[in-house]
Amino acid sequence: MPRKAKTLAVVAHSPAVIPASKRTLSFGAKWQYAPAPESVVVKPDARYELFIGGKFVKPKSGQYFSTLNPANEKQLSEIALAEQADVNAAVSAARRAYDNVWGKMSGRERGKYLFRIARIIQEKARELAVLESLDGGKPIKESRDFDLPQVAAHFFYHAGWADKLDYAFSGKMPRPVGVCAQIIPWNFPLLMAAWKIAPALACGNTIVLKPAETTSITAMHLARILQEAELPDGVVNIVTGAGETGRALVEHAGVDKIAFTGSTEVGKLIAKATAGTNKKLALELGGKAAHIIFDDAPLDQAVEGIIGGIFFNQGHVCCAGSRLFVQEGVYRTVIKKLRDRISTLRVGDPLDKNTDIGAINSRAQLDKIRSLVDAGVAEGGELLQPRCTLPERGYWFAPSVITGVTASHRIAQEEIFGPVLSVLTFRTPDEAVERANNTPYGLSAGVWTDKGSKIFKTISKLRAGVVWANTYNKFDPTSPFGGYKESGFGREGGIHGLASYVRLD
Ligand code: NAI
Ligand code: MG
Repeated sequence: MPRKAKTLAVVAHSPAVIPASKRTLSFGAKWQYAPAPESVVVKPDARYELFIGGKFVKPKSGQYFSTLNPANEKQLSEIALAEQADVNAAVSAARRAYDNVWGKMSGRERGKYLFRIARIIQEKARELAVLESLDGGKPIKESRDFDLPQVAAHFFYHAGWADKLDYAFSGKMPRPVGVCAQIIPWNFPLLMAAWKIAPALACGNTIVLKPAETTSITAMHLARILQEAELPDGVVNIVTGAGETGRALVEHAGVDKIAFTGSTEVGKLIAKATAGTNKKLALELGGKAAHIIFDDAPLDQAVEGIIGGIFFNQGHVCCAGSRLFVQEGVYRTVIKKLRDRISTLRVGDPLDKNTDIGAINSRAQLDKIRSLVDAGVAEGGELLQPRCTLPERGYWFAPSVITGVTASHRIAQEEIFGPVLSVLTFRTPDEAVERANNTPYGLSAGVWTDKGSKIFKTISKLRAGVVWANTYNKFDPTSPFGGYKESGFGREGGIHGLASYVRLD
């Protein structure tokens, strides 16, 4: 990582990032931070193989693809490319493990493995966090303080369920579903793996997991942890590759259930491919979350929650609050506070402990963010960005607020998955709810007000799977997460999440 990136305190978008526009305002950072590099140094392996039947095996085609560090565009490792034959081998291994071992094992025994996995993850949390930040670009304070504790918490929580499933669904005897295909995205690589693997194992299923092609490294380190925990061979198999590998897995006749998190576009393809089959399906897709700030809200608290909810982790969050509805009376104050706060955000080296906004995960994602922001400006929005010198190499985007957005703008409708907040206004509570609901998505929302009664009235009308009030992006394994409308169906977490990994009929 060049030193320049570490010290980057933020401030001036490069003209290449955003087209010059009279409507663009720039303002500077207030101070510079000294670099505070992460002290744990981990070097990824030069090459990672597939994990099938409890062993690391070479892909049958002999092909590998590279995974980059998005902060400097340098190759980190080569990752095995799984094709149909490898997917077949992984599904067969999962079937054997289901029939011979895992499907028959008592919940009490399964729970012991899950507890063991959770404890080993805790022991190795720091090195896993470093690998996650290297491969995906997220700041170390996110991977270390949010992702990894949540990963361990998911295994602990579901370990506790394994021997209590008979009490979870009143009057019903839950049975495992069988072989689960799990396809996950790049924004929370290890956490999405944990969300999917832990409940599936607790319920007695076996798994073929496919990580995202830009962030496979931590999944392969998780495979080592599974070996260390002596999880029986074939209970979890991991195949790496891109969309084609995912498609082969989805279409495999030996799969009983598919759990997918990713884009709405691919979610729709998977829904079509599984229609008319006996496969159980859960989809967690995109979002276009709205924050509603009423004029009686604690404004500093609200602004802090909104900033965290869209800028930390580069906005690579399906429940990122990318639309902000502000009641007209406090509009000017809120904009001033947002503007002041974004000028203090630090963009740069993901492995610097001071960094708030790391690297955008891939060039494709950066291009998507740029094009949506360009469209927002072209459609009449006003772009507020701190002036920042972004590192020359790597994928970067300065934190951006776009005001003057209206509901018909693309930026208010399409998922952006980047550090960009669109601001809209409203007069009455009913108008706020109606406009917040005006999107094809329905994953999450945030409500900010001093009045408890207003919170309840508002959340009962919002069409979103999760609504946070006077806080944002708070997660717990006991709490179900999932969406309405084009954000998908099925829940993950809590007792509702378990329901999608059992048969009750
Ligand atoms: P994507 O949906 O293509 O990728 C997610 C996963 O699906 C990856 O593992 C990928 O290899 C796999 N996949 C791709 N095509 C597949 C197919 N035909 N069958 C089975 N699996 C397939 O998402 P992508 O292209 O990385 O991101 C595009 C947009 O999707 C983002 O800009 C963002 O708006 C949204 N997204 C939403 C996420 C969420 O958490 N809801 C996560 C990632 C992306
Ligand atoms: Mg990578």
